[in-house]
Amino acid sequence: MAEIIDGKAFATSLRAKIAAEVASLSFKPGLAVVLVGSDPASKVYVANKAKQTVEVGMNSFEHKLPAETTQEELLALVRKLNADPAVHGILVQLPLPKHLNADEVIAAISPAKDVDGLTVTNAGLLAAGQDGLVPCTPLGCLLLLQDFCPDMTGLNAVVVGRSNLVGKPIAQLLLQQNCTVTMAHSKTRDLPALCRTADILVAAVGRPEMIKGDWVKPGAIVIDVGINRVPAAEGKTKLVGDVEFETAEKIAGKITPVPGGVGPMTIACLLRNTLTAAKRIETPPTP
Ligand code: GUN
Repeated sequence: MAEIIDGKAFATSLRAKIAAEVASLSFKPGLAVVLVGSDPASKVYVANKAKQTVEVGMNSFEHKLPAETTQEELLALVRKLNADPAVHGILVQLPLPKHLNADEVIAAISPAKDVDGLTVTNAGLLAAGQDGLVPCTPLGCLLLLQDFCPDMTGLNAVVVGRSNLVGKPIAQLLLQQNCTVTMAHSKTRDLPALCRTADILVAAVGRPEMIKGDWVKPGAIVIDVGINRVPAAEGKTKLVGDVEFETAEKIAGKITPVPGGVGPMTIACLLRNTLTAAKRIETPPTP
């Protein structure tokens, strides 16, 4: 049976470290979160972000805009936040309503305040192996992996999913750890066989329980990024990952559960990025 990677406990201890560092600063870092419309899942995420931001001693600035907000209005808010010295991090909750152009909105965020790591500047810095801001969920996966496996040199890593938010940045981070990285996606041939080559298997496809236990190499580390709500007994729903946990935990060496694995790390890493951004903004490097 696999060892369960307790992301909830790891995130709690990371938040405690962040809170201690925030308390030692001579200024208060501030995170602005922008929510457009009233998607129920996004509302829950944003409320959790605000709560945890305040709990670590930072300022939380919430901007809730109506679903009819225009592109120009949203861009104007982002520019205002870019210029606001009390704001060190800006996050625009995705997905945006269909009439808005998310790429253009993300491009308007100052890279120094882009705590989601989604601007082309930060994606480019990551690809070039330079210091920028790394997307929160991939950073959370890396911190969990490093805790269990400090030296990943030469390991085969397979990342299933190629999104800008998760798959691509995780692949870059694993490459920096000297893994041999393969990115798999919906057009990959014989995905089960490829997954069986993975010492580290990262599932980030957003398809409930797609990756089966017999796709997992015995002893592998399995990181499940999926958060999928599916029907359960008695008309209820439950959360499952992209990996079929019941079968995979019998084969893997270590595995993240859903919920309680990668999920709690995302907001903890958002706070870590906000602290990083705030320190860089407030103390520019001396020439
Ligand atoms: N929606 C779901 N996850 C995320 C995230 O990490 N960042 C943003 N901006 N929106 C999201």
